Amino acid sequence: MEQAEQIQKIQNYSHQKMSGDTTGHNFDHIQRVVKMAKRLLQEEKTDPLITIAAAYLHDVADDKLVDDPAELEQEIREFLKTIELTDEQIEEILYITHNLGYSKSLSANPPKLSLSGQVVQDADRLDAIGAIGITRAVYYGGANGEIIYDPEIKPRTNMDKKEYRNLTNETIINHFYEKLLKLEGMMNTPTAKKIASKRQKYMKGFLKEFYVEWDSEA
Ligand code: ADP
Ligand code: NI
Repeated sequence: MEQAEQIQKIQNYSHQKMSGDTTGHNFDHIQRVVKMAKRLLQEEKTDPLITIAAAYLHDVADDKLVDDPAELEQEIREFLKTIELTDEQIEEILYITHNLGYSKSLSANPPKLSLSGQVVQDADRLDAIGAIGITRAVYYGGANGEIIYDPEIKPRTNMDKKEYRNLTNETIINHFYEKLLKLEGMMNTPTAKKIASKRQKYMKGFLKEFYVEWDSEA
């Protein structure tokens, strides 16, 4: 099967899996991640099929979104076989989608990603910051019953993987300190670092204005 046809089929599969999501992982998130991954691919010499496939599939088996991620990974494996990807390609894609998440990076031994994996991770992380990132945090927090802000609840900025995953009493504003503002320093590729720096400034400006308005000072 031609590569263009394989990518089209992966896109259709991802669309079918993600379009019902209401937690900030809808297909529009996937499309932005794919588009950003393609932009980063212009600077990074790595396999486009692996990169684009992993970008389309990166949230399909997310353990926040499905009860049994292993079952979905198996389903993805079988689907990719039907469109004639090799076992090696399939395992590389699944390694990326399994390991690119933020909480994995907080573990004592964070997984090492290939350059394709680093590109998809950067693209995914860029979509969590800036104006889109702010909107997604509010949307996710609302969908998960978080309050907006409480000055008495202090952010916990040095959590390990387990603590991050078991967070309770979360506020939307604390999420900025617990994840979003850290992402700039965790980007892999030079282009992503540059884009992250601009988006970081935007988020910091937003937070500054938020506190001013919270205290009715402006
Ligand atoms: P990703 O798609 O980058 O893997 P996640 O699955 O962690 O992101 O979360 C989806 C979106 O919701 C991201 O933009 C993320 O920052 C945001 N988000 C995740 N957890 C929280 C939270 N506890 N409060 C507010 N926003 C959150
Ligand atoms: Ni994502």
